[in-house]
Amino acid sequence: MAMPHAAILGIGAYAPSRVMTNAELEQKVDTSNEWIIERTGIEERHIAAPDEAASDLALKAARDAMAMAGVTPQDLDLIVCATVTGDTPFPSTACWLQSKLGAPQAAAFDIAAGCTGFLYGIHVVQNLIRSGAYKKVLLVGVEVLSRVLDWTDRSTCVLLGDAAGAAILGAAVDESGILASNIAADGDKGELLHLPAGGSRHPASHETVDGRLHYFKMNGRETFKHATRNMGEIAQKTLRDAGLGLGDVDLLVPHQANLRIITYLAKALDVPMEKVFTNVQRYGNTSSASIPLALTEAYKAGRVQKGQVILMVAFGAGLTWGATALRW
Ligand SMILES: CC(C)(COP(=O)(O)OP(=O)(O)OC[C@H]1O[C@@H](n2cnc3c(N)ncnc32)[C@H](O)[C@@H]1OP(=O)(O)O)[C@@H](O)C(=O)NCCC(=O)NCCS
Repeated sequence: MAMPHAAILGIGAYAPSRVMTNAELEQKVDTSNEWIIERTGIEERHIAAPDEAASDLALKAARDAMAMAGVTPQDLDLIVCATVTGDTPFPSTACWLQSKLGAPQAAAFDIAAGCTGFLYGIHVVQNLIRSGAYKKVLLVGVEVLSRVLDWTDRSTCVLLGDAAGAAILGAAVDESGILASNIAADGDKGELLHLPAGGSRHPASHETVDGRLHYFKMNGRETFKHATRNMGEIAQKTLRDAGLGLGDVDLLVPHQANLRIITYLAKALDVPMEKVFTNVQRYGNTSSASIPLALTEAYKAGRVQKGQVILMVAFGAGLTWGATALRW
């Protein structure tokens, strides 16, 4: 029997209502609106309320995606959350979300792949659907990065934001669906982007708190280099696997880390910027949430039409990177 093809049946997103502008950051650290816009393109980002954790953001995005797909919590047989800033180290955020949704029949687990989390999720989930093991899967990318940012470090705190994006995946009913996907990693470069303490290597202690080791650390320059090279290569491989060329891409939805990286990637791939969706200007880098948030906004703006080829590509901590090509 031919394996069913997996497709995205619904998408949704949520960003907390509180918006933090670059002007506000100028009050916190030695930076300027001009510097942030010139180096990153970011103008503002959303910050979760003190009582909002990852599963709260995820719930709102999930409900939108389920409404679009016409799926109820009882229809779900699996919930996967891509996150590195979950509610708790354990249980998983997917389990907290399962409880909030009221979907006791669904299995639930998290994926930690930094900013590539959502595309790692698509890769895993589409194979589970194709195998016939699961029929209706909720995949969420969610981050509350504001909780792990060092608000005294200007080189990182200006870059990130909080949000959630969700998709319902199931067997495709027509030609639409996931055409090809690839994921990759290079653990040798783990320290380029990492959160040093709070795990079994450096459990929480007065020393880790005093040393500011519970915050996001990044070597921006090195990360930039690897991001552009690896995303370009995996995007091209994924299109080849789908039997397509760059000219077939109707919309490129890249991970929204930084406008310079996106522009560089589009140029390297020879995809005109009119075919590239960007919203990093309004959200900053929301890590695992970035691709589903961008896809949802692109869809709502009418930039994703039936039959079009969408190429998604991401890069993040691990290092990890991945790409998915799909026909909408
Ligand atoms: C972070 C990034 C924007 C910094 O830009 P850059 O051109 O590499 O800048 P550098 O880090 O070399 O810093 C240049 C100068 O700006 C300063 N600077 C850093 N952050 C600043 C800020 N927010 N405001 C003002 N100046 C800042 C640095 O201190 C440095 O000053 P110095 O030359 O006096 O030492 C860039 O490296 C980048 O985009 N990297 C990729 C990050 C990323 O996307 N990560 C997530 C991947 S998922």
